[in-house]
Amino acid sequence: MIDEIRKIKEKKNAVILAHNYQMPEIQDVADFVGDSLELARKATEITDSGLIIFCGVRFMAETAKILNPGKKVFLPAFDAGCPLADMARVEDVMKLKEKNPDVPVVSYVNTSADVKAISDVCCTSSNAATVVKNIPSDTVIFLPDRNLGYFVQKQVPEKKLILWDGYCFVHRQFTIQDLKLARKKYTDAEIMVHPECNPEVQEAADFVLSTSGMLKRAKISDSKIFIIGTEEGLIHRLKKENPYKEFFSLGSARVCFNMKKTTLEKLKDCLENETDEIVLSENVIKKARSALDAMLKYV
Ligand code: 13P
Ligand code: SF4
Repeated sequence: MIDEIRKIKEKKNAVILAHNYQMPEIQDVADFVGDSLELARKATEITDSGLIIFCGVRFMAETAKILNPGKKVFLPAFDAGCPLADMARVEDVMKLKEKNPDVPVVSYVNTSADVKAISDVCCTSSNAATVVKNIPSDTVIFLPDRNLGYFVQKQVPEKKLILWDGYCFVHRQFTIQDLKLARKKYTDAEIMVHPECNPEVQEAADFVLSTSGMLKRAKISDSKIFIIGTEEGLIHRLKKENPYKEFFSLGSARVCFNMKKTTLEKLKDCLENETDEIVLSENVIKKARSALDAMLKYV
């Protein structure tokens, strides 16, 4: 199956992008694996291919389309959504904007294209604090993840953040009890958690990082054991890139079932038949692009 995928990919001159949470076999067949920011950047650098196959969830494939309106972008698992992104609906964001007319909106990339289109700047978990710091306003609407908002507020205390009440059900499952038990069991381990985790988990961890931030930290750290508080798919890459180090999920392995909807079969079918293309209106692309470009300018 992997050989066939590679053959069709070459014949069609397609590029396969995959998020760090994808299943091991999908990560291994992809041309590039990364976090949300790296994948968004990569999407802007693709010049020699007209076809992007995005193995991830919908908002990520939409981001690739917005940054490459002239290219065909496909999401092999067409029903792979992100419940966090669904928590910010356009009409509700509009209401909050009306209540706070001069306050800029910073949207995490985990939002729909329509919400990006009514935002001032986008951000990802690896650049959120930098984006908020640089935005020329003392008050900022930050959506949709409250825990990421907490993480940003701590780093940018001089600004007032109006937080949305959204959350990621995967990251919310990591508990302070999981962390205390891990500290007892692995006394020499470094504990890294994603900023979508609850505040008390962030506070008790050694590092709060995006998925690629964790990959970078694991490489440079002297520690040999790491406890990882993020979706379990990242462990594959961590182990592959650090074969002499050990990685364990914090508590139980937590799974984003939407990320796991991409299979080799679906990927092959999508490449072969060019099904499930991401289609967005010109107007939405234009407006959402301005929020994404603003983010890419900041960092
Ligand atoms: P990263 O940007 O860290 O890859 O996170 C994306 C995401 O969906 C986290 O749940
Ligand atoms: Fe969305 Fe959470 Fe899955 Fe990330 S892990 S895609 S935020 S549901």
